[in-house]
Amino acid sequence: MKRTPNAVELAPGTHWIGALDPALREFDIILKTANGTTYNSYCVRGEHGVAIIDTVKASHADEFFMRLEQVARYDEISTIVLNHLEPDHSGALPELMRRAPQAKLYISAKAQLMLKALVKTDDLQFNIVQTGDRVELGGRTLHFFSTPFLHWPDTQCTLVEEQGILFSGDVFGCHFCDPRLFNDKVGDFRFSFEYYYQHIMRPFREHVLDALELLEPLPLKTIAPAHGPILRDAPHSYVQRYRQLASPLLHNEVGVDNKSLLVFYISSYGNTALMAQAVVEGAETEAGVHVSLYDLQASGGLPFVDLIEEADGIAIGSPTINGDAVKPVWDLLSSLAVIKVRDKLGASFGSYGWSGEAINMIEDRLRGLKLRVPIKGVRAKLIPNEEELQCCRDLGRQLAQHLTGNLERRVISMSELLSQEPSHA
Ligand code: FEO
Repeated sequence: MKRTPNAVELAPGTHWIGALDPALREFDIILKTANGTTYNSYCVRGEHGVAIIDTVKASHADEFFMRLEQVARYDEISTIVLNHLEPDHSGALPELMRRAPQAKLYISAKAQLMLKALVKTDDLQFNIVQTGDRVELGGRTLHFFSTPFLHWPDTQCTLVEEQGILFSGDVFGCHFCDPRLFNDKVGDFRFSFEYYYQHIMRPFREHVLDALELLEPLPLKTIAPAHGPILRDAPHSYVQRYRQLASPLLHNEVGVDNKSLLVFYISSYGNTALMAQAVVEGAETEAGVHVSLYDLQASGGLPFVDLIEEADGIAIGSPTINGDAVKPVWDLLSSLAVIKVRDKLGASFGSYGWSGEAINMIEDRLRGLKLRVPIKGVRAKLIPNEEELQCCRDLGRQLAQHLTGNLERRVISMSELLSQEPSHA
């Protein structure tokens, strides 16, 4: 594959002027980038103005300016659009503004503070745009769409109306560097497209669905994202894939009107398993709640992420071993970083031998993930007696009632928890 030094035309007067980063193997610490990445920037030429859409990571600025200079002079640039201010797209912005001081900068409202932090000056001129705002370049019209939290608060998309080209920012992008650039030319990048959605967009899927309401009706000929291949072949198929990925899947399984409560447990000697069963029994007494029970021991944890994303509440049972919850429980909890769990209901329970710290530790982690933990967890010393099992049934019933709205919302504070001895030890 030849690595072209040239700007690449997408449509008459509209060019890719980004940078290639084929050697990158890890992005933002958390993402594996087996095929490197690209920082896509674009230049749109109108009859009386030139627009630059996004820039590149600072380390790749020379490559960006080299390509920009092939298609435009700096004194022709009338417009700079930053669809997203993360440093991989704004890194070359300060230097671009220095070279094209006459250019007007267009950003979303939520990008203002980030811009000031980035450029480090209060003497900054910019224009705030939102859905429906347009900038005329002469025969080329930039139309802005507010698509926040994809995946930062500031994100937006920009359409060249006459050419049907959507500059989408990170949305519909992926980390895949191939100098052939276009989706009908590059290698098979489907795994990267899916991986990028799962790790970057998935926690914001409600915002993805909001954005799709704006973007799906557009007569798109090309989607030009900020990373990876430019999607000129069947662009709507990528929009449809996002719709599939972001749509809830489990309505039929739990019933459209039901709430879903998942009870997870792991058990050394069957004691926490008995408690889990009692939690389920209690929850099942509340109509309108669909209750599921899972043993973490054989699961590896990860298959449950999809279920938790759809659920309204989770209860987690763990024994306490060496003063801690056991590893499969922490594996499950750590796997939740890729989905939105804020405001779901959480609870904990478990059998213990002499200390029983696991319950509080799990509750703390659930709160840290922004779940609501309205009911104190249940502990049982070794084999739960009938009174303790009844407490588990009460826990399940109360959780279910919280889900259906039949109980007042109550969040227990850390100090309250610490001030109480285990009531079922
Ligand atoms: Fe590609 Fe969110 O930056």
